[in-house]
Amino acid sequence: IRCQSIGTDEPKTKRTLLDNASNLLTNVLSGGSLGSMPVAEGAVSDLFGRPLFFALYDWFLEHGSVYKLAFGPKAFVVVSDPIVARHILRESAFSYDKGVLADILEPIMGKGLIPADLETWKQRRRVIAPGFHALYLEAMAGVFARCSERTILKFEKLLEGASSIGQNEIELDLEEEFSSLALDIIGLGVFNYDFGSVTKESPVIKAVYGTLFEAEHRSTFYIPYWKVPFARWIVPRQRKFHKDLKVINDCLDGLIKNAKDTRQEADVEKLQQRDYSNLQDASLLRFLVDMRGSDVDDRQLRDDLMTMLIAGHETTAAVLTWAVFLLAQNPSKMRKAQMEIDAVLGQMIPTFESLKKLEYLRLIIVEALRLYPQPPLLIRRSLKSDVLPGGYSGDKDGYAIPPGTDIFISVYNLHRSPYFWNNPNDFEPERFLQQKKSEGIEGWAGFDPSRSPGALYPNEIISDFAFLPFGGGPRKCVGDQFALMESTIALAMLLQKFDLELKGSPESVELVTGATIHTKNGMWCRLRMRSHADG
Ligand code: HEM
Repeated sequence: IRCQSIGTDEPKTKRTLLDNASNLLTNVLSGGSLGSMPVAEGAVSDLFGRPLFFALYDWFLEHGSVYKLAFGPKAFVVVSDPIVARHILRESAFSYDKGVLADILEPIMGKGLIPADLETWKQRRRVIAPGFHALYLEAMAGVFARCSERTILKFEKLLEGASSIGQNEIELDLEEEFSSLALDIIGLGVFNYDFGSVTKESPVIKAVYGTLFEAEHRSTFYIPYWKVPFARWIVPRQRKFHKDLKVINDCLDGLIKNAKDTRQEADVEKLQQRDYSNLQDASLLRFLVDMRGSDVDDRQLRDDLMTMLIAGHETTAAVLTWAVFLLAQNPSKMRKAQMEIDAVLGQMIPTFESLKKLEYLRLIIVEALRLYPQPPLLIRRSLKSDVLPGGYSGDKDGYAIPPGTDIFISVYNLHRSPYFWNNPNDFEPERFLQQKKSEGIEGWAGFDPSRSPGALYPNEIISDFAFLPFGGGPRKCVGDQFALMESTIALAMLLQKFDLELKGSPESVELVTGATIHTKNGMWCRLRMRSHADG
């Protein structure tokens, strides 16, 4: 099977029978309706042994910012252009839904925000988004710090053990540690449940990982065999998946019941005034139950919580993992970050207020998100005919899109586009302070921080959709500030105490993707106490 060129005279290499069959099918399906759009031409073997988004990047450089990828019997339009991305995500947002992604996630998240139909999404987004207001985030800063402290204590204990046998360093898979930390944080922040996964294992934790694993498996498996009748009883991994799902659902149902049973008018008043000062439970679930009374449908609430558990866990863990990977290769930048931490925090724990002064740390987090966006692709399917605007390269008149067209917006390509970033593959957190206001590209407003006054972190508005770590438009991530603050606080507390380096070479860290970019065998690092930070 090859990614083939529709309408060209001669194939570049010898075709197999299978190639021809695939081409025929693709031509029939596509019907040439995407007009003059360039078509990616390359062997699908390009995709094996490396993540899809790498191949999409090579084809972007070759074919321009909007091209078509015929992938076996399926065709996708790949977009790597901020103007076109802005159109799909913001200007024409409701002409598209989540397509393949919703098909994969619906069995797990039900009618949660990510896969929800438009009507349900509108209703739930109106209720959930206000839950992430500034005072909630301020209260969460304490949760982020307390959970990070548990991780730090665990590392300190391990180092103490090592020092008793004459060693001054430990080796750890930081990806795994960040995953536990992020799980604990999302549990406490969203539904006031302490997974305690930094220090223990439990059936619920195992079930969460099992479910994430299955979601990832489904996102890379092109035939949805799990939809085949009886698959959930016959296929062992599907049986396990449904068992895991039940464990989490029972846990969430218990939490919802408890939140409803313990609803108190005094708390409701406090929440109405956004007063988190003496609230025992500042979680989002408390907010959703208290502010909406007991009329909230339990099933919907469970879908909402499950969605946030999945959406907010591995993503944040991945940001921390890649931030560490990048810093370990740039010791001078790690040192610069530590100097900022020493100056702003000394030995104190970070707070909402101190975050505002940790500018370099914040830029490290966004630069890690630029180089390793989570997820690297945004997925859409057109619900009706649309016309994409002309991008900065390729067809200036744009392309007609028929209903049912599957689209990948490659955030990875946008974030590493040589048209918008200097030295796009280099780790330079400082770049966000130096970006030029406009690069003179027609239809693109360039970088301008004044478009998002008061924003602590660079975003899609400042970059006019060249930087899209949380998507954009109405379906933008609801947890963006939560995740950014969480990552900044956790990274600050780690670097405050420890020096770290990679155990192996950077090249030995292999990438794999599902919903997020993660490693094949862990992010193994060596950790030492910072010499002046062990007091
Ligand atoms: C949506 C990224 C953390 C909840 C999204 C989208 C992106 C994203 C790119 C848009 C998807 C699309 O348009 O198809 C991230 C990253 C995170 C993160 C990189 C961490 C660094 C979180 C957290 C939560 C969360 C912590 C919840 C506490 C959601 C939800 C949506 C979403 C509910 C769907 C929004 C909607 O459709 O209305 N996220 N996210 N995310 N995210 Fe996040």
